[in-house]
Amino acid sequence: MSRTYFAGFILTVVALVEGQTIDDVTLLHNKLLSGYNKYVRPSTDQFKHVDVNFTFDLVSIRDLDEIMEKLSIVGILWMFWEEPRMNWNPIDYNNTFMTRISMQEVWKPDMVIAHPIGSTKAVGSDHSWYSVRYQYNGMAVWAPSDVMTTTCNIDVTYYPFDKQKCEISFIPWGSVITEMNLHVVQREVSRKYFTENGEWALEKATTTTGLHEGIYPTYIVELELTRRPTFVIVNVILPILFMGLLNVLVFFLPTKSGERVSFAMTVLLAIAVFLTLVGDNMPKTSQPMSTICYFLLTNLVLSSLIMIVTILNLNLYHRDDNLVVPEWLENVVRILKCNRLPRRTKVENLKEDDDGNKKEHLENVDTVKWALPAYTERITWRDVSKAVDMVFGGAAILWLLMTTLAFFIMVSTQRVPGANK
Ligand SMILES: *[C@@H]1O[C@H](CO)[C@@H](O)[C@H](O)[C@H]1NC(C)=O
Repeated sequence: MSRTYFAGFILTVVALVEGQTIDDVTLLHNKLLSGYNKYVRPSTDQFKHVDVNFTFDLVSIRDLDEIMEKLSIVGILWMFWEEPRMNWNPIDYNNTFMTRISMQEVWKPDMVIAHPIGSTKAVGSDHSWYSVRYQYNGMAVWAPSDVMTTTCNIDVTYYPFDKQKCEISFIPWGSVITEMNLHVVQREVSRKYFTENGEWALEKATTTTGLHEGIYPTYIVELELTRRPTFVIVNVILPILFMGLLNVLVFFLPTKSGERVSFAMTVLLAIAVFLTLVGDNMPKTSQPMSTICYFLLTNLVLSSLIMIVTILNLNLYHRDDNLVVPEWLENVVRILKCNRLPRRTKVENLKEDDDGNKKEHLENVDTVKWALPAYTERITWRDVSKAVDMVFGGAAILWLLMTTLAFFIMVSTQRVPGANK
C-alpha cells in the first residue's frame, strides 16, 4: 500500500470515529441555545456565586506615558468557568466533544478596567468575532485579547534610572462577591507571547485578586518596569557634560586672543539650544520634579556664571597699570601663584667635615635657611586676571564633577532629598 493510500485510510477511520457533520454541530448549537438567556449567571443555584479562574498573558508593553500617567499594554485575559447549561452527551452528536459559540450569544464575565483612560468598556467587547469554547461537560474558556490602558502613578524623580509599578485592575462590572468570585490559577503572568519593549524592561509581573470596598471582586495584574537608561545617558547626559567641559576651556584661552567672550557665548547658546531639543525627551511633570531637570539646570547656571566671570575678568585684565593692585589682593595672588613667587634663595648651611671638604647637611632641616631677595616683583592686573582664571577654572571643573557625581549617586541609589517616599 502506498503512503497516500495509507494516509487516506487513516483519515477515513478518524472521520468515522469523529464523524460530526455540519448538521450535528448545528443541531447541538440549536439545542444549547434554545431557551438560553445570556443575562442569567451560569449557576444552578442562583444563591451561589460563579467561580471564574483567571490567567493573564502579557503580549507587549505599548507605552508608559509619564505626562499622561498612563500605561498601555496588549494582553490576553484567560477566563475559565463552568457553564451548567452547556452540557451534552458527545455520543449523541457524533463525538462532538467541543464547540465554539459566538460571545455575543452567551453569558461571559464582563471584565472592565477599573481605572481606564478613555471610555469604559469590557475587555474584548469591541471584537464581536471572539467566541467562547465549551467542552461537553460545561467547562468554558474565553480569552479575549485587547489593548488595555490604565492610569498609573508615575514617579520620575529618579529619571532615567526610575522603576515604575503599575497595576491594571479588572472588575466584573456590576457584579458583587456573592454573584461572582475570581480566582488566580497562576500567580505569574505568562510571557509566552511576550515581546520586549525598547524603553522599559519588565522586572516582575504577577497577578492577585482583591476585594474593592469589601464587595466588588477585582483581578489585579501588577507590573514592575525599569527604564533602560542608555538612551538618555548617551543622548542627554554625556553631550551636556562635554559641553560643560568645553565651557571650562574658556579659562585656558589666552585673554590676548580676544576670543573669550565669543567662545563663552557660543557654548552658552549651544547649551541653551541643546536643552530646548532635549526638553522633548524629558518627563514634563512638576509633581514630582525629575532630578535630571535640576542637573541640566546646574549646567546652564554654570555656563552663565562662566560668561559673567569671563567678562569681569576681561575688565580686570585691561585695567590701567597705574591703578595699584590693593595689598590684600596682591597677597592673595601671591599665595595662589606660589610657584611664581619671587625666587627665594636657599642659604646652604655648609660645614667642613674631617677631610676638610664642604658637605651639605640637608637632613637637618632647621639649619637650612631661606631668604627672600630684596627685590620682589610687582603684581600686575594681568597676574590678578590669571589668578582669577585659575580659581574659577578649578571651581568650574569641580562644579561639573560634583554635580554629575551627586546626580548619579542620587538617582542610582534612589535617594533624593525631599523626595516623597
Ligand atoms: C479553577 O481552578 C481550580 C484550582 O486550580 C480548579 O480546581 C478548578 O477546576 C478550576 N475551574 C475551572 C472552571 O477551570
